[in-house]
Amino acid sequence: MTAQAQIKSSFPVRRMDFSFSDVPRYWFNNDPFMTHFLTSLSSLFPEGELFFIDSVRAVRTQIEDPVMQKEISAFIGQEAMHTKEHKAFNDYAQAQGIDIEYLDKRVGKLLGFGKKYLPVKQQLAITCALEHFTATVAAQLMRRDDWNERMNDPVMRKMWLWHAIEESEHKAVAFDVYQKVGGDYATRAIFMVIASTILAIVASEQQVRLMAEDKQLFNLKAWGKGLWSLFGKKGFMSELTLQYLDYFRPGFHPNDHDSDALEKKWKQYLALNG
Ligand SMILES: [Fe+2]
Ligand SMILES: [Fe+2]
Repeated sequence: MTAQAQIKSSFPVRRMDFSFSDVPRYWFNNDPFMTHFLTSLSSLFPEGELFFIDSVRAVRTQIEDPVMQKEISAFIGQEAMHTKEHKAFNDYAQAQGIDIEYLDKRVGKLLGFGKKYLPVKQQLAITCALEHFTATVAAQLMRRDDWNERMNDPVMRKMWLWHAIEESEHKAVAFDVYQKVGGDYATRAIFMVIASTILAIVASEQQVRLMAEDKQLFNLKAWGKGLWSLFGKKGFMSELTLQYLDYFRPGFHPNDHDSDALEKKWKQYLALNG
């Protein structure tokens, strides 16, 4: 065995194959707002994670470090598996009458525009920004049992927690690649502002669309409860404000936010290897 083949990535690629056929209509706490919020997020993954993979792949030849090459391979493997499983869920949702294909195509067009017109380093800066976002949300999902316990379907709970574990495991890969290929602070910070703004607009618009399609647009109780639980006092997202802002610190590194204990706890709980 060559020295190169003996090097292992710090996290594994796990093969998953979820079956969504028994997932109920409102699988998150019987709540249309939060179910649609997470379905909307799921609709972003196939195109979004392909963009992450492509942006890292585009600079891969510039990386000579064999350890980092292994990390990149494992990162690509994990993201490809997330895409496969979220696509399977999205197809199921589509069959239930939720128009995910429309959302998926629109996100594809938006990211296609970025791929066509932005230099590779800026595309990688977008990936770093969105990977920070997914890593902080992932850790929060693992930390807040009051949230993950509200996923009243065991398959959906397992899929989201598996994805959360892996987002935590590989949270530093794109960032390390960005730094290795000479990515600068200003570009990283500017593209966090741009990526967050676009993500907030897309997520809001998709939420309105999914609620309207489901004839829940004027379910003010669901809107009020959902928005408060996300952005109110002790809200899922509002608690992440400082961690989000930490990305703008010049010396920031994703591993500054330790999530090892959470990963370990949930890997044991879900009986996942690694
Ligand atoms: Fe992912
Ligand atoms: Fe990721």
